[in-house]
Amino acid sequence: MSNRGPNDPRPDGQLRRGAGGVITGLRSLAEATGADWVACARVDAERELAARQQPVPLTRLARASGHLYYASPTREQYELYYSVICNPVLWFIQHYLWDLGNQPVIDDRIHQAWTDGYVEVNRQMAAKVVQLARGATGRPLILVHDYQLYLVPRMVRQDISNAAILHFTHVPWPTPQYWKVLPKHMRDAILEGLLGCDIVGFQSSLDVRNFLLTCEENAGLQVDEHERAVVSGGRVIYARHYPISVDVGVTTQLANSRAVKRQEEELATWRPARLIARIDRTDPSKNIVRGFIAYEKLLRYHPELRGQVQFWAFLQPSRQDVAAYSRYLREIRQMAARINNEHGNQEWQPIRLEIAESERKAMSALKNFDVLLVNPVYDGLNLVVKEGALVNQTDGVIVLSENAGAHEELRGTVLSINPFDVEATAAAMYTALTMAPEDRHRMNELARSVVRSNDIARWISNQVQDVRDLVAPVGTRVPTDHIT
Ligand code: F6P
Repeated sequence: MSNRGPNDPRPDGQLRRGAGGVITGLRSLAEATGADWVACARVDAERELAARQQPVPLTRLARASGHLYYASPTREQYELYYSVICNPVLWFIQHYLWDLGNQPVIDDRIHQAWTDGYVEVNRQMAAKVVQLARGATGRPLILVHDYQLYLVPRMVRQDISNAAILHFTHVPWPTPQYWKVLPKHMRDAILEGLLGCDIVGFQSSLDVRNFLLTCEENAGLQVDEHERAVVSGGRVIYARHYPISVDVGVTTQLANSRAVKRQEEELATWRPARLIARIDRTDPSKNIVRGFIAYEKLLRYHPELRGQVQFWAFLQPSRQDVAAYSRYLREIRQMAARINNEHGNQEWQPIRLEIAESERKAMSALKNFDVLLVNPVYDGLNLVVKEGALVNQTDGVIVLSENAGAHEELRGTVLSINPFDVEATAAAMYTALTMAPEDRHRMNELARSVVRSNDIARWISNQVQDVRDLVAPVGTRVPTDHIT
């Protein structure tokens, strides 16, 4: 189950791959398990598909054999759930994005959106999965994904007490104090919702520790740190981390495809001597504006780089119906324009800002960067950095925020930065650009080998193994034994 389905229907009836890391992981999961998928109808085209009451075969979307089912809230309910509560409220809490001296102001609009949007959509999603699970042979295994669906596990547990339920949070889990930005009844409902699971999964070991601490501090629950488990309602709930990854085979194949090679030919027509790249959704958590400030410092401190280097920011528009996001995109455009005006000339623009979606173009950037800047304020994991490490062919060096979940795995193979420190970020970009070729090569190879050995298959098999070891009591069949 996830908020987004695996593919977005387009107005012309075609399907396009859905955005974000959740979809990347879940497509592989659906392929490996043959599971059905429950998603939320988000746009009219999906509402129409849902209204047909015909499950969509996943074979149309991936190599998976299951079906896609939709819960279909009204447009208004979806808006309250997605645009008022999920993003920004929960997203902003989980990425520590609030300017707490001023925001958030939790008023009647948010209270109402919680009840009529978030709780209601979670209820509809739970009802859909319960309906499907009741028809399942054997004990149902239900995998629930991300912060949009925190209330689902408890709701499902109330109806199907023997279900095996695992929830995976793709975004950071903040400290107990920061959760207290949310009114008590909301943060309690989130914890209680998750405690309907057998296993709660996170991206990093720090997220697991923060979760256990939140159970202890904010809900007074009994926690066993050694077992990484919490006791609630007479049940034991385990917390584990499973850093998500890329499908090495599929990503490599895409990187070698003719379509990507064509994009690389296009890139070769304008490529500067040294290419700094970033690929991100236009999300305030991605820290794009500070990245530009750091780059401007690099140009000021090292004028010899002018004309030699270009910063290609290839950005995908995101959540433009949320005010904080449309404002952020404006700030990105303004900052890039100012830097280009101040430092550029007829022949050379320091920043190449492209706001568009193209997997192939993104891949061509990742294959060809000299420096990849990944400087999120906080990030659950960040798959771009793993894709970049895997496919780069130019001995590129990665500058990575210490607050990205992926940093736990990639530390030592990247140049680590504090994402708020623009001086340190500028210095790291300079180091990356001027490093000896053999050092660049060594770091590039090291990063690639980390990703190769932590493929998406491992993300899946570790969860399946834990379902087997921690959930299934003797004599109960959890339908995972056909998974290899
Ligand atoms: O990875 C976090 C996440 O919010 C996913 O849950 C989501 O599918 C993805 O980013 C993209 O965001 P959205 O679906 O809101 O466009």
